[in-house]
Formats: sequence, structure tokens, C-alpha cells
Amino acid sequence: MGVAGTFSHSFKVDSPNVKYTDGEIHSLYNYETTELVHENRNGKYQWIVKPKTVQYEFKTDTHVPKLGVMLVGWGGNNGSTLTGGVIANREGISWATKDKVQQANYFGSLTQASSIRVGSFNGEEIYAPFKSLLPMVNPDDIVFGGWDISNMNLADAMGRAKVFDIDLQKQLRPYMEHMVPLPESTIPISSRPIRDHEKNKVDKVVVLWTANTERYSNVVVGLNDTIESLMASLERNEAEISPSTLYAIACVLENVPFVNGSPQNTFVPGLIDLAIQRNSLIGGDDFKSGQTKMKSVLVDFLPTSIVSYNHLGNNDGMNLSAPQTFRSKEISKSNVVDDMVASNGILYEPGEHPDHVVVIKYVPYVGDSKRAMDEYTSEIFMGGKSTIVLHNTCEDSLLAAPIILDLVLLAELSTRIQLKADGEVPPGTPVVNALSKQRAMLENILRACVGLAPENNMILEYK
Ligand SMILES: NC(=O)c1ccc[n+]([C@@H]2O[C@H](COP(=O)([O-])OP(=O)(O)OC[C@H]3O[C@@H](n4cnc5c(N)ncnc54)[C@H](O)[C@@H]3O)[C@@H](O)[C@H]2O)c1
Repeated sequence: MGVAGTFSHSFKVDSPNVKYTDGEIHSLYNYETTELVHENRNGKYQWIVKPKTVQYEFKTDTHVPKLGVMLVGWGGNNGSTLTGGVIANREGISWATKDKVQQANYFGSLTQASSIRVGSFNGEEIYAPFKSLLPMVNPDDIVFGGWDISNMNLADAMGRAKVFDIDLQKQLRPYMEHMVPLPESTIPISSRPIRDHEKNKVDKVVVLWTANTERYSNVVVGLNDTIESLMASLERNEAEISPSTLYAIACVLENVPFVNGSPQNTFVPGLIDLAIQRNSLIGGDDFKSGQTKMKSVLVDFLPTSIVSYNHLGNNDGMNLSAPQTFRSKEISKSNVVDDMVASNGILYEPGEHPDHVVVIKYVPYVGDSKRAMDEYTSEIFMGGKSTIVLHNTCEDSLLAAPIILDLVLLAELSTRIQLKADGEVPPGTPVVNALSKQRAMLENILRACVGLAPENNMILEYK
């Protein structure tokens, strides 16, 4: 390690509140929060805000399992790109492009390619890789598997996707030719394939939906609104129970984490209750890898009008050109601004919402290279207007693959973390869309597991 810069190795926290045992890290953590009381004093309401400290106990199992990742839609652009990308990293593959010899990397992955500040040393800032915070699965060791309604092998699927350079595809083909997705029919509610995957090669499995976007499911009393109604609908083979919900039920029943990467409402109320009852991890609403990711940054500009156009020419683009699946995407993209609007009653009247329009067009020629054009208009000081216009051209699957990797690695890690609060904590978590807050939350929770205070950016170490 140099004096300043980024560590290349792991670190250990020396604190009376942190205990490293053989196989576990215990951390006693003081969470600084507030308690609010709404008081009527002489006919006037006011908030009384009392700072309070809640003690949490974090326990992290440090045994890193051999991880199996099963992708629903494995043969799609995202599935084949992630699988090929991980193999290329594992095998240290490099390939010639017209510009240079390119090495495989994990750019775009929060866990593999970002760093966190651990402190200052002799007046210099010291950073460590994000992945060194807690023991995590090394992506090179993941065993991939999954399902697809197409029986194309992964090498051909990679060719069909037209995402990787041809020299890279040629080198990857021998590793991927024998990889053939399981047919969808093996799924119904029996999760036998999940167990087989587990038994054969791995200690733990995470399942992630990266198959095509489905239409929204109707949430109906007696159909999918409770655990009982959902299970009864399953027995009756109700058409309204979507394939993604079926996969998620199978995972919850097996206590296998299930992540949803598409925008449809897989998590109907009966399924959410089932996951809570079984203490099984479910999560995810669209990968939000490109345009929507930018949106989750630009909401900090508090816009009054957001207009987003996309055109793309892959299978996802073709699927999204159908009105019912487009509607799922539109809802998911639009929801990104909800918490921002609700958080600022100075700029937005109650019930007021920015004008928000989303357009997606299928243009086969551009393939996976999606074009996204956005216009954000905000009202500024004294009646002025500020308009920001963005144009992004990028291979969609190269954006999604590292995010899928982070999702499965963090899902696995979170099954090894237990936390206990000193006192009652009300159930339910608010949805946070702003990207900076999401990243801060992830980093600070992991820091808490090793007894480090949240990164507060106050930099009081310096005069
Ligand atoms: N690429 C991105 O940046 C991005 C971002 C956000 C969300 N998404 C979503 O991720 C999903 C996948 O994107 P993609 O570009 O890989 O799409 P794709 O069309 O290339 O791949 C989807 C795969 O799913 C398979 N499939 C469809 N229905 C299935 C089912 N019921 N069971 C099993 N397999 C099924 C298809 O045969 C196909 O191989 C889409 O819903 C897309 O909207 C992608």
C-alpha cells in the first residue's frame, strides 16, 4: 500500500464494539436518529424533535459460500453478456479491438470497481475497495445456470445478442457452448432444479429474473392479495399469476433469494406477505441501468417536466413496443420521482407532480446500443427556467450486467447479516430512489457491520 490512495488488501477494525470470531463479525452499533412529537402548544402545532440513539447488534457470517446464480431468461442479452463477462474475467481473457488490446474488467460494478473512504492518514485520504468491507463472493467463482423459453446455448445466445466484440466471442465460445438453459416447464411450483443446482456444485443459490418484461398483473381481492388467495390461485392455475411471480413463490418456499430485474409488479401483496412470513429475501423493480439511473440522479435538480425518449433494437426493445409491457416500464420509470416530490413541500404543492413522459421505440438497426434522450426542465430563482438535455448511446446489456452482478452478490451477502435492535422498530421500509442516497445506504450498512460510523462527509479531520 502506498501512503495515500486505495488499499489493495482487506482491513480490520480495532474497536471495543467489534469482535471478530472464527466465522463471525459482531458489531454493536449506535444508530443516531430522531423521535418526533407533534405538539399543540397554545393552539399552535409544532414538531418537537428529540435526538435519540438506538443500539443495534449486527452479526455477519464470514463464511463465503460457493454461489450458484440462476437467471430466468439466461439466454437473453443480459444473461449471455453477464455469463461471458464473468468467464472473461475469470480466465483473464484479453481481445483485440480496433483501438487497443482490451482486458476483461468489472467496470460498472459497485462491489468490484468502486472504493470507500476509510479515513485520513498524515493528511491524506485513504480508500479501500468496496468489496473489502466484508467477505464477499468473488464473481469469478460463481456457477451460472438458469432457465429460458428458448433452448439456444449460451454461445449462440451471445452471438445473437451482438454485444461483445467478435474476437472476444471467439475466445468465449468454447466455455459457453455446453451451457444450455433449463426449459421453463421445469419450473412450475416444484423448485427441484434449484435444489439440483445447489446439490451438485454450490452451497447457496440466488435466482434473478432477467427475462422479458411482463404485463402488469391485476391485484384482485381473493386472487393474489393474501398468502391464502395466492396459493389457492396457484392450485387453480390462474392465468393472472405471472411466470415471474411463480418463480418468486418457488424461491420463497425454498428460502432462496429472488431478485426481480424487470419493471412488472411481480411482488403482489400475497407474495410479499409470504416472503415476510418465511423470512425470505425478495427485491427489485427494474435494473434502472441507464436512462432511469440518470433520472435518479437528476431528480436532485427538482424538475417540473421530464421527457424521456428511447430507441433500441434488441429483443427487449421489441417486447417493450407492445402496449401492455410498455405500461410496466412506464410506471416503473415514472415512480422514480415520487419520493423526491413528496420530500419537498416548498417546491411542490400537495398532489402536484412534474409532467413526466416516457417514450420507447423499437428500431432494429441499433440493436443493443440504446439511444436515450432526456429533457429536464426546472423552475429556478425568480421565475427563471433551466433546461438540461442529455443524449446517451450505450450497449444496454453492458450497463445491466455489472448491476446484475452487484445484485446477486449483495443478495447473497445480506443473507449472512443479522441485525437486532434494542427496542421496537416499526415494520416497513420507505422506497428511496435517489441514487446518491441508495449508494450511501448500502455503504453505511456495510460499514455498520464492521463498526464504522456512516460516511458523513463532514471532513472535520482537517482544519
Ligand atoms: N439491459 C438493460 O439495461 C435493462 C435495464 C433495465 C431492465 N431490463 C430488463 O431486463 C430484461 C432482460 O433484458 P434483455 O435485454 O436481456 O432481454 P432479452 O429479450 O435479450 O432476453 C430475455 C430472455 O428471456 C427469455 N424469456 C422470456 N420469457 C421467459 C420466461 N417466462 N421464462 C424464461 N425465459 C423467458 C427470452 O427467451 C430471452 O432469452 C427485460 O425485461 C428488460 O426490460 C434491462
